[in-house]
This record gives sequence, C-alpha cells and structure tokens, in this order.
Amino acid sequence: MMKINLTAVVLFCCSLSLSAADINIKISKRYLNFPISQKEDRKVMTFSIGGKEERVFKIRLASGKPEYWVFSDMTAYLGKTIKLSYDGDAAGLSKIYQDDKIAGQDSLYREYNRPQFHFSTRRGWINDPNGLIFYEGEYHLFYQHNPYEREWENMSWGHAVSKDLIHWEELPVALHPDKLGTMFSGSAVIDYDNTSGFGKPGKPAMVAAYTIDNPDREIQGIAYSLDKGRSWTKYSKNPVIDSKEKWNSRDTRDPKVFWYKPGKHWVMVLNERDGHSIYTSANLKEWKYESHTTGFWECPELFELPVDGDKSNTKWVMYGASSSYMIGSFDGKIFKPESGKHQFTTGSIYAAQTYTNIPEADGRRIQIGWGRIQQPGMPFNNMMLLPTELSLRTTKNGPRLFSVPVKESQQLFEPAEKWTNLSSADANQKLKAFYDADLIRIKTTIKLSHATDAGFNLFAQRMIGYDMNNNTINGVFYSPEDMTSMELSADIYVDRTSIEVFIDGGVYSYSMERKPDPNNKEGFHFWGNNIEVKNLEIFRVKSIWR
Ligand code: FRU
Repeated sequence: MMKINLTAVVLFCCSLSLSAADINIKISKRYLNFPISQKEDRKVMTFSIGGKEERVFKIRLASGKPEYWVFSDMTAYLGKTIKLSYDGDAAGLSKIYQDDKIAGQDSLYREYNRPQFHFSTRRGWINDPNGLIFYEGEYHLFYQHNPYEREWENMSWGHAVSKDLIHWEELPVALHPDKLGTMFSGSAVIDYDNTSGFGKPGKPAMVAAYTIDNPDREIQGIAYSLDKGRSWTKYSKNPVIDSKEKWNSRDTRDPKVFWYKPGKHWVMVLNERDGHSIYTSANLKEWKYESHTTGFWECPELFELPVDGDKSNTKWVMYGASSSYMIGSFDGKIFKPESGKHQFTTGSIYAAQTYTNIPEADGRRIQIGWGRIQQPGMPFNNMMLLPTELSLRTTKNGPRLFSVPVKESQQLFEPAEKWTNLSSADANQKLKAFYDADLIRIKTTIKLSHATDAGFNLFAQRMIGYDMNNNTINGVFYSPEDMTSMELSADIYVDRTSIEVFIDGGVYSYSMERKPDPNNKEGFHFWGNNIEVKNLEIFRVKSIWR
C-alpha cells in the first residue's frame, strides 16, 4: 500500500472549512482505492489530465472511518499525473491511495455474504446485464454498474468475461459516462461485414449500442472495440437515435441489436414509452423506424427459436424487463404477436438479456437475468442469476418458453444423496444433515393426492408453496401440464443470499433473496397433508471463485 499524500499536492480552496479540494496524483499503480461512507452525501469528483476532464462521477468519500472501499482501475493512466477534484469534504481525499491490489483483495470473493456460484462484482452496484455476446471463445458480460458505491448511480458498463459462463474474470469498466450522459442498458454485435466502417482488415468491430441518459432525454449511442471489448471508442456523431419528441416521452431506451440474416440488415428493438419499437439499419449508424408493439417496458428482447428443436418450424419471442413474453412471427420489420403474454420466470429476476453471436453449431439461446438480491453488509450489491438456456416447447396450450440452467453449470454440482418414495416426515429427517448447508442444490418431486396445498420450506422461507386449488405457486398462477399425476417437480439452487427454483423442467421458474427466519428450527421442511416425496436428490455445490 502506498499512501498518496506522500506524493500529492493538496490545495485547499477554502482555508477554514475542509470543503472542495484538488489533489494531484502520479499514477504508478494499477488501482486507486477510495474510502466510502453511506452516511456522507454524494459529491462530484472529477479526474482531469492537463486541464482536460477525463471522468466525472458522484461519490460518498468517507471523511471519518470508511464503511467500505471501492476502487478505480487506472491502468489506462499509468505514468500520467491526474488531478482529482472533489466538491465535498476534503478529509476523505487524503485517505485515497494507490496500490496494485484493491482494498480487501485478500478476502475477495470469500466475503461472508458473497454469492458463491452466481456472478457478482468486486465492488459497487450492478443491475441489468448488457452487451451479452460470445466472441472468440469468450462470453462477455457487460452490466449496469456503479463502481463507486453499493447503490445505483454513475451508470457505466462494467465488464467480465468467461470461457464457460460459470467462472468469470472481471475487467476494467468498459464504458464510462461522458458529456452526453450516463451509460444505460444496451447490447453488442460483431460487425463481420464492416457495415459500420469501424473494423480493420481481419478485425471486425465489436459494436455496442446503448442508451445515453441525461436529465433532458434518453438517446441512443454506439461505440466500438477492436480488442475484444477491452477498450472502446465512442462514435463521434452520437446519438444515432433521438426520439423524445416523436414519443413525447423521455422513456426511450435499452437498444437490443441483432443481424437479420434473411434481409441482410441490422435490427434494433428499442423500448419507446409504451412498448417495443423496431428500427432497421444497413450500417448501425443510420436507423429507420419500422413498427411498434405496445405493452412492454424497458429492456427489450426479440429472438427466434425452433419449436421442439425443429429448425423448419420457428417462432419469435418478444419480452420486456419483467420477463413477460409474446410468441409470434417477425419479417425483419414487424413483429406479429400470435399468443401471450405469458410469463416464464418471476421474482428477483429483471432486465434479462440473451447472448448474440453464439456459433451456429451450438445454436443455444442463452439468457442472463439481473438478480435483484441484496447482499447485506457487503461492499457490493445485487448479482446475476444463473445463465439459462431458453427453448420453445409444445405444451397443451401451444408453444411456451422453458428456461433451465446452462449445461456448463453441471460442473458445479456433486451428487451427495438420493432417495425415492419417502414420506414427508422421513424426508425432513434425512435433510437434517444438511441444515447448515451454505450452498446446496436440491431436486425433488412431490405428489399431492391428499393435499390441496403443499410445499417445501427452508427455515420457514417458502421455496415451494404450491396451491392446487387456487392454481398458484408462491403466489403466481401456475397450472401444471399434467394435472392428473398430482406431481410437481422442482430443481432448487440455494446460494448464500439467493434461491432459484425451476419448476417442472423449466416451464416456470422464480428467484428470491434467501431470508431464513432466525427463530425457525425446522430447517428443510416438506409440508402438506400426506404428501409423498417421490424423489429427493442432494448436490454439494462448488464455489466458482476458487
Ligand atoms: C432497467 C433499467 C433500464 C436502464 C437501466 C439503468 O433496470 O431501468 O431501463 O437502461 O436500468 O440503469
């Protein structure tokens, strides 16, 4: 650790009160570490080099004892002298230090409330997944990120990569706020044909489309990268779409872009006021409005899926941030709904997005959703839910979306026990050995026959609460495909702070914070009149961080 005040020049602008101040730092280490206190007000910090503003953000610098630390990766500025200006209490400035480690690096990913098999960020806040794209062996996960606090602010695109969708390496922030505004949600494509002109021979550009948010409006911008998403250049003529006046609304955001092969053009689905609009483009820069489907809010998705794996029979799925969806057809310009809305997943999930550029030989539609899961006491907040594979399968009501954890997740689970045909009392007895499990996966099938409602708790928290009479599962309408068997199956993933449940092969799933009742002694507990536990499988879970 090297204290900055050894090298820094601190110029207090106001002689008596410790208010606004500047400090000059010659960057010689990878990270700047910042002390944070949620009790402080947010104040503006500016990084500038030679009088030119590089970054402007809001931060709650701790003037007294920090509650936690955040950091900024300064690799891009190594060797340069940066002026940090802060319009809050200058006492916090003297605690900022540079180091090759982030503050708390030694316990990183081992913090007591760190999700162990879900992605979470080292420090700060995350929300929506952005720019999900597979390219040259890497799955990119960009995400809405406040690097400077565990609450929402300073929207930037954080960045992590993975070779298997399970183990993630975090990279420096990809897109920082700029003079036009902050970086809201969006998507990414590879421009193989160099339609944008951003590419170089043999080096197609990765192009991100995102919303720029400012107090006046939400407009759409693009940026490109020629080094696999590590560094980005914003298009000098941003914005590429400004539709506030057309919609008489500032809610115009979250562009999802993909290549429409039959028409050889780009498609952008953009949420505008009351629904999802379709735009088309030849070059990712000029966009033409085509059509609009009402009834959706934020974070649009639109993709094609074979029904029951039959590539000659495909349908298109459109959804919004809440994961309610329509099934229909799409001709490159207009989405025509045929059924819906339906809902395939609920709970903590929000703003899910699917991967683009998955190789044809793989062909999967892989989704990651934001898990609105609080991480109490941690210097970071929220997480991503398990990546899932989406498919369309025929049900008695027509095709429906199914979602199950991607096959790569299997490496995390080691079978521990398996029983069949237990009474609930026997099952509860057997589960006593797992009461203290930090992480666990449980697969089970219960048969009701005598019960109109039944379920499965963890320290009084309802992981399954199925009401056959009211047709609800954990409060949401649910009617199983086969009502005659009286059976319900669930695949349950319990992490330190979250629970995800996939019902009946993924036709419905939900997620929640893990909130045990501290006074409850029952631990795992099946309940319901005379239910049979037809199947019960326990898996031990490996951490993705070790
Ligand atoms: C959804 C959302 C998006 C927006 C982003 C801002 O959670 O509100 O519509 O782009 O978050 O962080």
